[in-house]
Amino acid sequence: MRFKNLVATTLIGSTMLFAGAASAQQAFGKAEDAVKYRQSSFSVLAHHFGTLGAMARGKAPFDAKVAAENADVLAVVANLPWAAFGAGTEGGNSKAAIWQEKAQFDEKQQQFEAEAGKLVAAAKSGDLDKLKAAFGPAAQTCKSCHDAYKNK
Ligand code: HEC
Repeated sequence: MRFKNLVATTLIGSTMLFAGAASAQQAFGKAEDAVKYRQSSFSVLAHHFGTLGAMARGKAPFDAKVAAENADVLAVVANLPWAAFGAGTEGGNSKAAIWQEKAQFDEKQQQFEAEAGKLVAAAKSGDLDKLKAAFGPAAQTCKSCHDAYKNK
């Protein structure tokens, strides 16, 4: 019975997630709304990523609970900016190349999501060495995309 409830809750949860992603994409009537959305989500992403980075680099004391909390937020926020790069949303500090070579941009996004996933797992492990090992490669995927696709 309990298991059944869990399955039902999980199914409802994922349906809602899908609905959320779809409506986010449709919600951008104006390009400037998409720009605002992706910049805001990058800001939130950078905040939680930075908190983990400070611990990984020894600039803040390691606190396993804080690391896990930031990882939980990161796991969600890491998915947000991408729906706001739809057709016709050029602008902000995004280079036009994103829309001209969408496949390459998507590839950088996927590299980031793979490393972010590893970072989330490491940050939730309670092991500072794992966090340290995962942070650098994840940060490298931010830089790699910014170098190619973001105006300074
Ligand atoms: C696949 C490409 C890509 C990846 C990966 C990526 N970014 Fe970005 N980021 C961008 C682009 C493009 C912009 C410019 C958005 C705009 O202004 O239209 C941006 C903007 C930003 C901004 C500025 C937001 C603002 O307020 O204007 C911050 C901060 C940021 N990114 C942080 C990060 C961090 C931290 C990571 C990694 C944890 C990351 N980004 C990963 C492409 C990426």
